[in-house]
Amino acid sequence: MTTDQSVSRRFNVTLTQAGVTLASDGSETILDLAQRNDIDYPCGCESGVCGACKSVLLQGQVEMLPHSPLALSDADRQRGMVLACRAMARADIEIAWLDADDPPPPQPRRRMMLTVTAVDRLTHDIVRIRLAQPEDDPFQFTSGQSANLCIEGLPSRPYSMASQSSDPYVEFHVRKVPGGRLSTYLFDKLSTGDAIEIDGPFGASYLRAAHDGPIICLAGGSGLAPVLSVLTAALRQIPDRAAILLHGVRDEADVYYEREVAMLQVTYPTLRAATVLSRCGAGSRSRLYGNLADVLEAFDLPVANAKAYLAGPPIMVETCMSKLHALKVERENCHADAFVQASTDSAIDAVADGVERLAVILDQG
Ligand SMILES: Cc1cc2nc3c(=O)[nH]c(=O)nc-3n(C[C@H](O)[C@H](O)[C@H](O)COP(=O)(O)OP(=O)(O)OC[C@H]3O[C@@H](n4cnc5c(N)ncnc54)[C@H](O)[C@@H]3O)c2cc1C
Ligand code: FES
Repeated sequence: MTTDQSVSRRFNVTLTQAGVTLASDGSETILDLAQRNDIDYPCGCESGVCGACKSVLLQGQVEMLPHSPLALSDADRQRGMVLACRAMARADIEIAWLDADDPPPPQPRRRMMLTVTAVDRLTHDIVRIRLAQPEDDPFQFTSGQSANLCIEGLPSRPYSMASQSSDPYVEFHVRKVPGGRLSTYLFDKLSTGDAIEIDGPFGASYLRAAHDGPIICLAGGSGLAPVLSVLTAALRQIPDRAAILLHGVRDEADVYYEREVAMLQVTYPTLRAATVLSRCGAGSRSRLYGNLADVLEAFDLPVANAKAYLAGPPIMVETCMSKLHALKVERENCHADAFVQASTDSAIDAVADGVERLAVILDQG
């Protein structure tokens, strides 16, 4: 699908669902071309990470810019899929976005200036940020979605909403990444009363409202944010459904929101939840020990007609998806947000390296 043809000519780009053909000189991505022409192409991170713009190339050739293998796998590529945010036309093409499975209610992506109402440290490196939800014009989203947080002079980054759209605040859990520009600012400097711009919502790992089976929620670190939002919404919708929540962290110092989860279990007794510590040996009977993927087999998951929602570090997401697949939860029933910032090619390379290392580990294991 990649060619080295010159980009000096004009190509016709036909967008199937939009029913239009646009002219491209091949210097911009299909997503940029669509957006420049006011077409609402499905998208999320716009940087080859989330997979929300995954599309089928029905005809022609494109050149793909670097992207995360979690957003578009080799198997996807072999099936003729591309990422619109990373693909540039190299011939006349026809391309169709994937019709969303059980799409969320339409909520146009927009930018809003919101006021910080609370900044609370939940652990030594995770901060909870609450923004006031305007009563007359709330920021609408579906549980599991993300939004970019934008502060002047700093790069904007996606973070997942931990709250419900109907809550009086919009909540985020941000882990301070060592050397990270925005997360360090949010952790160290953000204060109550500050204004912050929010740009969203987006993302493909939103709660599938039509699904009424069991749900398996797997979160690594601050990945608890979207997973908790999905879990809460799913239980409110069907209070007696089978539900699992496993929260993987390194050690005791990283554990947070146990009380909130315990309260959810009181309201919804079918919810089984556990904290999984990866860096300490067995000790407390209320904990599981190991990597999240390691404990799945022992946890007696309700896999029949189940959907899984995953969020956290890319390696955790990929190892858990592989294990779920082995346990007969198909990939199309796994909705995942891998927390990686891929605004630079080196970040994408880092994910690719990680996934390759993981493949080696799985091969050997
Ligand atoms: C869809 C989506 C949703 C996300 N939701 C959340 C969320 O709810 N909570 C949350 O804490 N984070 C979340 N993230 C990650 C977040 O967007 C940022 O990547 C992260 O906060 C780092 O940004 P930064 O500007 O501080 O770091 P940068 O200045 O971009 O990076 C500094 C260094 O850290 C490395 N790095 C970047 N991100 C990470 C990371 N996540 N882990 C380890 N190293 C990293 C970079 O490669 C670089 O070397 C999400 C990411 C995506 C794609
Ligand atoms: S919008 Fe293209 S991968 Fe996220």
